[in-house]
Parts: sequence; structure tokens; C-alpha cells
Amino acid sequence: MTDLRLRHLLSIDDLDREAALALLDTAESFLEVTRRPVRKVPTLRGKTVLNVFFENSTRTRTSFELAGKRMGADVVNITASSSSTKKGETLYDTMATLDAMHADVVVIRHGESGAPHLVAKRSRAAIVNAGDGMHEHPTQALLDAFTMRQHLGPQLEGKTVAICGDILHSRVARSNALLLKKLGAKVRLAGPQTMLPHRAKDLGWDVYNRIEPAIEGADVVMMLRIQLERIGGPLFPTTREYSRVWGLNERRLALAQPNAIVMHPGPLNRGVEIHEDVADGQRSVILNQVESGVAVRMAVLYLCAADPGESLS
Ligand code: CP
Repeated sequence: MTDLRLRHLLSIDDLDREAALALLDTAESFLEVTRRPVRKVPTLRGKTVLNVFFENSTRTRTSFELAGKRMGADVVNITASSSSTKKGETLYDTMATLDAMHADVVVIRHGESGAPHLVAKRSRAAIVNAGDGMHEHPTQALLDAFTMRQHLGPQLEGKTVAICGDILHSRVARSNALLLKKLGAKVRLAGPQTMLPHRAKDLGWDVYNRIEPAIEGADVVMMLRIQLERIGGPLFPTTREYSRVWGLNERRLALAQPNAIVMHPGPLNRGVEIHEDVADGQRSVILNQVESGVAVRMAVLYLCAADPGESLS
């Protein structure tokens, strides 16, 4: 059991290296719980978790819901389409209203970067960022690191992770790059010039504008979807052209380490950033990432809401 407690989880920068490792170790215990015939522990009995999603989600929302329920919490899901924001209520008023109902944790996804930080300033509940605009998706990065440790061993120090595709608009890329750096991995960011952040090199990441050299010798190849919902105009000639130049196929994957794993946060655009045979191939751990998501989010909820001394199981 760890002494670590989280007031909020808004950004990977809320965790130092030791805290990130403690959280990942805690998630190991919860993975075991999720694989039992009876996948339920009383760790968060009497606690309330609100999932407030202003953007679509399959994986994140469902896994937070399962995580809360598997630990005995009361979990309520609120979506933008069914909330009073549709009647003109501000985000702040919506969140203050929910806070008045004595939630212990509010998990929020929002299209605007910084929205969880804004509500955290005046919230009694712990706020967990489930993805804010182009900014961050800290629990995705944690579940990705957890999955890497499951397949490559607990030490990510010195491992090479190539993150490829639409880096500029990806909150997943940003959170992964921040976390992997803390864990000592070498991060390569690869994408078309129009999809790379201008200051990535200054921040210490290796930047590539071709996929082949980025993948060469990598231990992990993480492909990203083009974030069409955040792109104002066309940043590449055609989808077919993008797939031809940037899509991960077997030929390109052969450049990576022989035991390299293929990751994707989902949702996938098959035939665009990742070819069918790779997405479903031997080295794909995409569904393992989904499984890890429940265990890691159980750990996050536990560290935000469990009473001191409460056991994991
Ligand atoms: N990876 C991820 O955030 O997926 P969802 O949008 O389905 O939650």
C-alpha cells in the first residue's frame, strides 16, 4: 500500500517520478482484482464519483465507470447533451452545482484546454482530467505506461518510444511525452510538419518528419488518430496520401525492435494511421491498453478518494 494521496489529477505534472511509479504499482494490485471471477472490492464504499463528459468517449468514460463500481462507489454519468449546459448554464455553475451534492471525485472531459484546471480551483471534490482539448489526457498516459511495463518489464528507463501521427492536436501525445520523460524513456515524436508542435525540440524530445527513422529500433510504436474535430482546415492532401506516407504497415513495423509493441489510444481509423494487419497483429497491445485503463483508473480513484489506511482489496 502507498502513502500517496492525490488532491486532483489535472496534468502529468501533478505527479513526480516517484508518485507516478507508486500509482502504477498500485494499479498492479487492481489489475489482479479486475481478473478475478468476482471483480469487486469495497475500497470506495460510500464514496461518490461523477463522470462529467462534455465530449464523446467510449473507453475513458466506461473504464472510469467500471473502476468506480468495482470499488463499490456510487457512480453517476452526466453527458453534455443531457446536462443544463444545453440551457445556457456556465461550466462553472454546472460544476458548483455538482460540488454541492458532495461528490468525492469528479472526472471531467471537456473540449476546452484548461477546463478541469478552472473547476479544480473551487471544487471540494477531487477533479480528474479525462482529456481537455489539445492539452492533456493524464490517465491515458498512465495506462499506456502501465501497458508498456506489462510487456517490456517494469523499467522503462532507456526504452525508445516512437509516437507517430497528429502530435500537434493530441493531448495523448503531450501527456505521454511528459510521463515517459519522467520515467527515463527516450521519446521520438514523428508527424507531418503541419502536425508537429513548434517547440517540441526545445522541450527535449527528438522530432522526426518521416516515420521510418522514428520507428527504427523503437521498443514501442504508438500511432495516433488525426484529430479531425480539432483541425480547422486540411493539413494533408488526401487521406489516401496520409495513409501511404504515415500509415503503420508490416513493412514499416519491421524497422522496430523484433519484440516491439504497437499501441494506439483509440479510437482507431483503420487503413489511415494503422493498417488492418498491424492493428490486429501479434504485436498489437491495443486491447491490453483498454484492460489496463480500468486498473489504472481504479488506482487514480483510490488515491483521490479512499480513506487513509483503506486497503486495496
Ligand atoms: N483513448 C480515449 O480517450 O478514448 P475515448 O475517447 O473512447 O475515451
